[in-house]
Amino acid sequence: MNRETEVQLLRDALGLTQAGAHSMAASEVEQPVSDYTDPIRFNTELEVMARSLNVVAHASQVPEPGSFITREIVGRPVLITRGLDGTVRAFLNVCRHRGARVETRESGRCRAFVCPYHAWTYRTDGTLASVRQPEGFPSVDFGTAGLVPLPCVESAELIWVNPSGEGEQELPTSTVAVLAELEGLGCVNSIVQHSDSKVWRANWKLIADGGLESYHFKIAHRRSIAPLFPDNVSIQEFLGRNVRTVLPTSTMPELLNRPESDWRIRDYTHVVYALWPNATVLVQEGHYTLATIQPVAIDQTEISVATVVPRAQSEQDQAYWRANHDFTMKTLDEDFVIGEQIQAGMATGANTTFRFGLFEGALGRWHEMLREEVAGHLDLRRSTRSSPTATAPSHSFE
Ligand code: FES
Ligand SMILES: [Fe+2]
Repeated sequence: MNRETEVQLLRDALGLTQAGAHSMAASEVEQPVSDYTDPIRFNTELEVMARSLNVVAHASQVPEPGSFITREIVGRPVLITRGLDGTVRAFLNVCRHRGARVETRESGRCRAFVCPYHAWTYRTDGTLASVRQPEGFPSVDFGTAGLVPLPCVESAELIWVNPSGEGEQELPTSTVAVLAELEGLGCVNSIVQHSDSKVWRANWKLIADGGLESYHFKIAHRRSIAPLFPDNVSIQEFLGRNVRTVLPTSTMPELLNRPESDWRIRDYTHVVYALWPNATVLVQEGHYTLATIQPVAIDQTEISVATVVPRAQSEQDQAYWRANHDFTMKTLDEDFVIGEQIQAGMATGANTTFRFGLFEGALGRWHEMLREEVAGHLDLRRSTRSSPTATAPSHSFE
């Protein structure tokens, strides 16, 4: 974040807090419940996500040459490696012989991947290194029989993968700018200190919704973070398909006693970035939380939460981060339990629409954006089907 934006956001946050005012949208929004429950809509959303670069890990989870992790990303098995040259790459975790899962461990470090079925072996850059008893495969071309590569970007210490290989190959400029903001806020030279993952019985959008408004803080989080924030104050801005939310903390009035040159946004607010399509970065004073969403089914979502802290730390810090991570999990669980209850409530038919109030403007706009993405994808699908020149995607190593 550049200095001018940082100071302006703090001025705006201070103004709202002093006035006891709330940011208000121009109008309420009626959000159809069917957007959460229609299986055709859900499958189209999955196709949209599968054509996007998704946040899948923090760089420190693949720390050194030979490190790897495996993930399910929008239902596809993916292997992410750091090659011997230090570059992070992603591949479909599918053997080119007869399709077995090449790497079955969740994480580790190795020089090569040996398929557990017949031992075809791949290097960390995905290329095929050896075929057992190669005389049985005289036609195999080692130049093209490597693991299928996927678009993969490492930026601001976040690893992004497009699990279908189709659609987005690079991060859009707006997201690159957001990642530069994160770096400007000092979210670098960091490691994942603790992480947790769990499947919740709620549509993925119910989980996303909870991160786009602060109207619920004083109520749903009354036993956790509520005292840390003034009631229902936030400043939100769409940056491309991403949303930046600045949440002033109760310490905000201290700014009045300090010259603007001393103002630091991380000391007086939490800055939350909803990163399209599947991640949230919650920047706090000395660390950040990275939460990633993976839809498992229309009514089930896997949520992974990582506490990301400065690389350099003392033993004392470690106890602090443990307690901090536990507190974050307690707070987020408050949201996800309600998400599960909303999911169960949707089946009753009590609501055909939800109401996004004037405090919840980002929710209406985010859902409108998703609706446009879904419509755009349906158009693309129709035009691809009707085009006589449409061809299957090809995969090759550069
Ligand atoms: S399926 Fe991998 S070696 Fe046969
Ligand atoms: Fe919440």
